[in-house]
Amino acid sequence: MASSAHAIVLGNEKGGTGKSTTAMHIIVSLLHQGCRVGSVDLDARQGTLTRYVENRRATASRKGLALSWPAHEVVAASGDVDADAQAFRQVLGRLAPFNDFVVIDCPGHDHPLSRLGHNFADTLITPLNDSFIDLDNLADVEPESFAIRKPSRYAEMVWEERKRRMLRDRGSIDWVVLRNRLSHLDARNKRRVGDVLNQLADRIGYRVVPGMTERVIYRELFLDGLTLLDVMADGSGVDVTMSHLAARQELRDLMESLNLPMPAAAAQARD
Ligand SMILES: Nc1ncnc2c1ncn2[C@@H]1O[C@H](COP(=O)(O)OP(=O)(O)OP(=O)(O)O)[C@@H](O)[C@H]1O
Ligand SMILES: [Mg+2]
Repeated sequence: MASSAHAIVLGNEKGGTGKSTTAMHIIVSLLHQGCRVGSVDLDARQGTLTRYVENRRATASRKGLALSWPAHEVVAASGDVDADAQAFRQVLGRLAPFNDFVVIDCPGHDHPLSRLGHNFADTLITPLNDSFIDLDNLADVEPESFAIRKPSRYAEMVWEERKRRMLRDRGSIDWVVLRNRLSHLDARNKRRVGDVLNQLADRIGYRVVPGMTERVIYRELFLDGLTLLDVMADGSGVDVTMSHLAARQELRDLMESLNLPMPAAAAQARD
């Protein structure tokens, strides 16, 4: 990115794979570690991340909680691609100098703003639901050998934006694929999808990071703008269950695997 902040982009041309949910959990993890975080919603039409942040602010004032939230901005598509690109650059110009991280949530379909978001990624996170249908979003593979017939349009788009990024500022994009909504039950499917994802990784140019299981705790706190990290914090009064503990460990493993450049001033992980 232009200035100091490290850009984390949530992207995938498939809808409903967990981009906004993951974005919010990463934002709150970083805030809990004492980082300064900005966030950008490039999916203004749906506005999930924006509502998550608004809900958080409302909860803080309604319940008198000492919550922190990101400096949040929205870039809405106006139909004028150049004007939108300029608006996005201005938003980055406002956020990047004052934050350690800027987390950017993209729409779940091909869009010029989404491409631009990818172009500015230092870390690109693509959540996939754990099925062969979602794998199709990375490549068209032979069913027997898993040989790649051709990369998906999304993989080609990431490749394109990587090249542009390299030409623009010689920066590189660390592309990670995150398996989301992993089932507790379907062990065989889980293993097969995992095998294929690992086999494709080098050829398509991503790495696989630990995923998130299907858990109510990842979705039930949206209306309060909270995450499990908030309700597990000291003094929240919430009964901590095994599922909370397991989810927190998943998030820790995910954050660790991202290898983010943590600022020296950030406190050690509180959660
Ligand atoms: N690990 C999880 N466990 C349970 N529910 C989840 C999990 N991840 C996401 N969800 C739920 O799945 C749905 C889709 O998630 P989300 O809105 O984050 O996806 P998205 O990729 O941002 O979608 P879109 O492409 O429409 O923007 C939501 O109802 C969310 O609460
Ligand atoms: Mg979304």
